[in-house]
Amino acid sequence: MFHKKTVEDIDLADKTVLVRVDYNVPLKDGIITDDYRIQKSLPTIQYLKDKQCKIVLCSHLGRPEGPHDKSVSLAVAARRLGEMLGEKVEFSTDCISDDAKAKSKKLSVGQILLLENLRYYSEEEANDDTFAKKLSEGMDIFVQDGFGVVHRAHASTDAITRHLPSVAGYLVATEVSTIKEAMDSPARPLMAVIGGAKISDKIEMLRRFIDIADVVAVGGAMANTFLLANGYDVGASLADKEDVPLAREIIEKARAKAKDGNFVFYMPQDGVVAKDIKEGVKTRIVDWGTHAIADIESYPKLPSKEASVVEDDEKILDIGPFSGAFIAGSMQLANTVVWNGAMGVTEIDGLQHAVGPFSHGTELLVEAMLGQFGHRPKSVVGGGDTVGYIEDRKLVGLFDHVSTGGGASMELMSGKPLPGVEALQNKEG
Ligand code: 3PG
Repeated sequence: MFHKKTVEDIDLADKTVLVRVDYNVPLKDGIITDDYRIQKSLPTIQYLKDKQCKIVLCSHLGRPEGPHDKSVSLAVAARRLGEMLGEKVEFSTDCISDDAKAKSKKLSVGQILLLENLRYYSEEEANDDTFAKKLSEGMDIFVQDGFGVVHRAHASTDAITRHLPSVAGYLVATEVSTIKEAMDSPARPLMAVIGGAKISDKIEMLRRFIDIADVVAVGGAMANTFLLANGYDVGASLADKEDVPLAREIIEKARAKAKDGNFVFYMPQDGVVAKDIKEGVKTRIVDWGTHAIADIESYPKLPSKEASVVEDDEKILDIGPFSGAFIAGSMQLANTVVWNGAMGVTEIDGLQHAVGPFSHGTELLVEAMLGQFGHRPKSVVGGGDTVGYIEDRKLVGLFDHVSTGGGASMELMSGKPLPGVEALQNKEG
């Protein structure tokens, strides 16, 4: 499944190794709020330490305004890595300066140096060869372990490989082989659950999943555009009117596939709506698809029109219980589930309970993936905001695979080549 050389396929003894990691971690007031990416870099670092290497780590953080944008300095990551390893991690305030060179030269075996943010130099994103050459000076081998950034052809993911023998670290090898296996040879049935904000961001992935999966369910704000395409009112919900043709195209593609065999494309039948996205706001369920909840609640009277219609000043902020149950139920038959994107707005905390007012759909999905209702499929979670939610809920370790890459996992799931992986040495044979 992984055809590139890894750290296990190259002689590392006594070498100075440049490792590209992705320490682009979320920060709040200068403090790292989620260190999942740093944790996931540890196996490769430990392996290189065991092999007596001198280890020089490089990464980007955020999108700096300029060369001295201290708000995105990697110094915090050096400290956090040091805490995790229980040793001092050296730090250089520049990635290609004399200081960086001197500090890397002074490393003793097993010691680690982290270089300052590569994106302080515009040459990094420009995939500049001279910059890559400077980065490679004094190094013997390049290890790509920043899975989150391998969809970018930058100096530290692409050009660098023209200056050093280049292989993959454990994180890159595991991410690529796990995600590819889930896409190319999954234990079937394969179910994909796709949420998040915009269809246009996920269009390629949706197309691919309709080609290869047995069930595709959509949720999140993205689903609102599908509802628009099907003629439903979505009130003041976030929805991209200009993407309605894309939604129609997907619906048509899904219908054509469903005609030929066993395939389900599921759009929400109900939703949780509110007038505002904030704590303590009044919520209600609108069931535009089934009308079952409205009928039951109104019986013996006829339900009011509002029960199945989103009002002009209301926003759909989560999938409703009927849709959540449909998705969780389908999962009882799936043997592989790939999930990318929350089903609703998960950033708002609940007043009385850990689950926020618009997180119930996502929570139900998580419970189903983890086997709460009996069957536990193999679970592969795409990175980005999805991971933020399950990290907050302290559930990351319970899934079979939780990707460290947002854009990178999406590109891989869409079937696109990853420049930072393509550039590495091929395995022989
Ligand atoms: C990410 O967080 O997706 C990666 O670190 C890549 O960052 P970028 O989108 O700024 O290139």
